[in-house]
Amino acid sequence: MEKDMERDNIICDLEEQLKKVITRNDVAQIKALYLGKDGIVTKLSSKMKEIPNEEKKEFGKFLNEIKNEVVEKIEKINKEIEERELNEKLAGDSIDITLPGRKIKRGSLHPMTRIEEQFEDLFVSMGYTVYDGPEIESDENCFQKLNIPKGHPARDAQDTFYLKDEFENFLLRSQTSTAQARAMEENKEKGPIRIVCPGKVYRRDEDATHSHQFMQIEGLVIDENISMADLKGTLELFCKHILGEKTEVRFRPSFFPFTEPSVEVDVTCFKCGGKGCSLCKQTGWIEVLGAGMVHPNVLEMGGYDSKKYQAFAFGTGMDRFAMFKYAIPDIRTIYANDLRFLEEFDRKDVE
Ligand code: DAH
Repeated sequence: MEKDMERDNIICDLEEQLKKVITRNDVAQIKALYLGKDGIVTKLSSKMKEIPNEEKKEFGKFLNEIKNEVVEKIEKINKEIEERELNEKLAGDSIDITLPGRKIKRGSLHPMTRIEEQFEDLFVSMGYTVYDGPEIESDENCFQKLNIPKGHPARDAQDTFYLKDEFENFLLRSQTSTAQARAMEENKEKGPIRIVCPGKVYRRDEDATHSHQFMQIEGLVIDENISMADLKGTLELFCKHILGEKTEVRFRPSFFPFTEPSVEVDVTCFKCGGKGCSLCKQTGWIEVLGAGMVHPNVLEMGGYDSKKYQAFAFGTGMDRFAMFKYAIPDIRTIYANDLRFLEEFDRKDVE
């Protein structure tokens, strides 16, 4: 009877105290008050030694009951607090589905890739094959088979990087014209050829309009009855296609060791339309191409009968076209991989 009262008192007291708790820390303090070293229940247990032996069993049972009840109540309230805290956190973290989504950054085509594809598409539509040659080339293919023997002054304008081999036979190609020598060599039947070869070339240059590495595209057509008229028509079509229908094209006599006759091709300035401005140095014209009828020596060195076949060839810097088309003032930015520059081309309207 007396024990029942004592237990009721303890539990009632505990319940009163638990009503006021807010945090788990409050609960921990109450737990210590009851079950800690000097806690109410702990102190009660220490009375065991004063209890006569025959009553010890019953007292032990009483102690256990009271202890279990205290632990149970404390655990219950702890669980409640935990649940409440979790609910509060979830409510705070709720997802706002009306927020706009995060934009995924899309890559874009490099301006040189765009230009290269435009060139290739055009020439493929005219029945040309895209021919791929290596950037490490032999002196023979880069110069000798193009009618530029060792010691020829035309080499000065195309000084490039030589590989360190015993005979200095290999170099980084200074022009895609090397494709002429390779394509003729590879064509065992020595029949007609119609190729364009886009790719990187190298020279010992470095300023705002010259980079040690740049992109050219070479064209070669070999067939019977090929004349300068075919060359003119082809180049006019291609300049207008890339730079706009209003572009006018002019041919000037020139010299290249591998063509005879040779021409340089100018187009009306895309900035001023031919009136004269700072870009075209007030002339209204801008030089964009070298071309000509392939020299008979070059055809013969490639194994072709120059009496039966004629050929025309042209070569141009694709970077130049990209610079004009996209108004890029410094060629070096094309190769700098600066995202601020490249992101400018992440738009449809640059086409
Ligand atoms: N390979 C010349 C250069 O890099 C350009 C060139 C001129 C190519 C005349 C040709 C050509 O095919 O016929 O300067």
